[in-house]
Amino acid sequence: MTRTFETVGVVGLGTMGAGIAEVFARAEMSVIGVEADEAALERGRRHLETSTARAVARDRMSAEQQSALLGRITFTTSREDLADVDLVVEAIPELMEYKRGLFSDLDRICKPSAVLATNTSSLSVTAIAATTSRPAQVVGMHFFNPAPVMRLVEVIGTVVTEDGLAGEIADLARRLGKTPVTVGDRAGFVVNRLLLGYLNHACGLLESGLASRDDIDAAMKLGLGLPMGPFTLLDLIGLDTSYEVCEVLFRESRDPRHAPAPVLREFVTAGLLGRKTGRGFYSYAEGAPTVPE
Ligand code: 3HC
Repeated sequence: MTRTFETVGVVGLGTMGAGIAEVFARAEMSVIGVEADEAALERGRRHLETSTARAVARDRMSAEQQSALLGRITFTTSREDLADVDLVVEAIPELMEYKRGLFSDLDRICKPSAVLATNTSSLSVTAIAATTSRPAQVVGMHFFNPAPVMRLVEVIGTVVTEDGLAGEIADLARRLGKTPVTVGDRAGFVVNRLLLGYLNHACGLLESGLASRDDIDAAMKLGLGLPMGPFTLLDLIGLDTSYEVCEVLFRESRDPRHAPAPVLREFVTAGLLGRKTGRGFYSYAEGAPTVPE
């Protein structure tokens, strides 16, 4: 059976979820964006308005296209509104108990043919699938931050995924203008498995006093031609997400490279989560990096 994906639910409209909702709406699909409460919903809506306004300001989109795009997104706090969608992409915080609760709700609410996808960065897609009565229709669809810009989607099938479904999700990713790669269900998949060891190591170097934050960032950015150094990237990803991905990788692999660096734990405990809270390794005013302190 080849499915058509026309109406998509996105659950969780934080940095990733709002970006993912924008990607689907840009591809002219109808999107239902779900958040837990009105305040979070409003933040998600603002994120989408700001991101698309930036595209208008840069002449990448007309004001009419922006309003048509936003008009394709319905905002709601009720999961029950997902009853008729063809696909749900979950982008809530990386806690298995939250994911389990959500997927068992989605399984009850969504029509039997609907595909349930998780944007998890590191948790087991198989374990998430097992909480539903339709594990064959559960996949990983992992986007990268900022979702409207980054061209990759990791597509994760499990041992119980229906034959051909990972291929259909890869085709959908292409329709969104992304390049899919198909990956097995192991913590961190490809990108985060390699990336978080590097970012965590950068934190270790900072703690050891080998070089300053700015010099490590400048070294990696200019020495390797990367778009940003490790601390700027940690702030973009979110220190809470980075910490949680390291924890999961460490639990699975026992590889010391993934044991979260103490400085990461300290920042997360203090609520300094990076760009989204206005301060992480750097300080930000209204989302824009300021001169490092
Ligand atoms: N939302 C939408 N669009 C955005 C955006 C955002 N948050 N940030 C930047 N853009 C767009 C800009 O509008 C601009 O678009 P245009 O070319 O059409 O005008 C384009 O991206 C370039 O932006 P800027 O000129 O403002 O800035 P830069 O050239 O410095 O690029 C960047 C910004 C794209 C973020 C770049 O620095 C970059 O690629 N950084 C690395 C990001 C990265 O590695 N992401 C992956 C993180 S790992 C992850 O997400 C996995 C997770 O599971 C942890």
